[in-house]
Amino acid sequence: MYILVNEGIIPKSSFSIDIEDRGYQFGDGIYEMVKVFEGVLFEWEAHLERLFRSARELRIAISMNKEELTKQIQQLIAIENLRDGYIYLQVTRGVAARVHHFPEGATSVLVAYVKEGGEVRKAELTGIHVITTEDIRWQRVDIKSLNLLGNVLAKQKAVEVGAQEAVFVRDGFVTECSSSNIFGIKDGVCYTHPANHFILNGITRQVVIRLLEKVSLELEETPMTLEALYEMDEVFITNTGQEIGPVIDIDGRKIGTGEVGEYSRKLSSEFQRLIDSVVPSKQ
Ligand code: PDD
Repeated sequence: MYILVNEGIIPKSSFSIDIEDRGYQFGDGIYEMVKVFEGVLFEWEAHLERLFRSARELRIAISMNKEELTKQIQQLIAIENLRDGYIYLQVTRGVAARVHHFPEGATSVLVAYVKEGGEVRKAELTGIHVITTEDIRWQRVDIKSLNLLGNVLAKQKAVEVGAQEAVFVRDGFVTECSSSNIFGIKDGVCYTHPANHFILNGITRQVVIRLLEKVSLELEETPMTLEALYEMDEVFITNTGQEIGPVIDIDGRKIGTGEVGEYSRKLSSEFQRLIDSVVPSKQ
């Protein structure tokens, strides 16, 4: 296994983390997870754009420009001979003696590695169970930062009751989930939280929004109350790993018929069509 560290690709065995890396001590960094299908990075430009935006918001200087980083990532995929899987990429503010403020002279540390498989697409969509929980996270979750404790605790709460995801509710309104965005469909309208500082603007979310037209759904970027969410005809979550995850119950209450909905299926097929349009074997 190889790791991209700043501008070089090295064997994992010669890689080490400095104890004073600010990512390790403060969670002072950002990350991205990108799917790879048949060696092709999916929605790479969008992920790259978001990575650089996160960096700008936190004033972390990435040592490479977008073109150089793209080349390095493609080289990593080639060296690892990765076909289907994902890449994980993170950038921390760097290594420095432990002070809370931005240390002088630290240079950011970028690392990336690839993983084969992971949450591979299922041929059949299976419905998932979710719970709701208070959104206790900070107010800049639009930045894809390494600070994920609120997310970790929420997901753990879900897992402990046999659910697959936890939906965050802030002041009575649904924001997103512990590691995904959430959509509700009612009477031909698809609702989701607007992309502001209370949600991460998911790349999968953006893809799904583009696909809504194809399945004749209207988009309404308005926060849903929890009560409205319970009453939706269909609910689904989106993220890079899962793409579209149809929700069949929330807090034990059935959503719609309690089965995977028609729109979720159609959107999933459109998503697959989009993937097919970028992979070599379908050209
Ligand atoms: N997380 N919201 C949160 C809080 C997330 O952590 C994620 C993804 C998303 C969806 O973003 P995208 O569609 O770009 O994957 C929304 C990744 C997958 C993770 O942390 O593993």
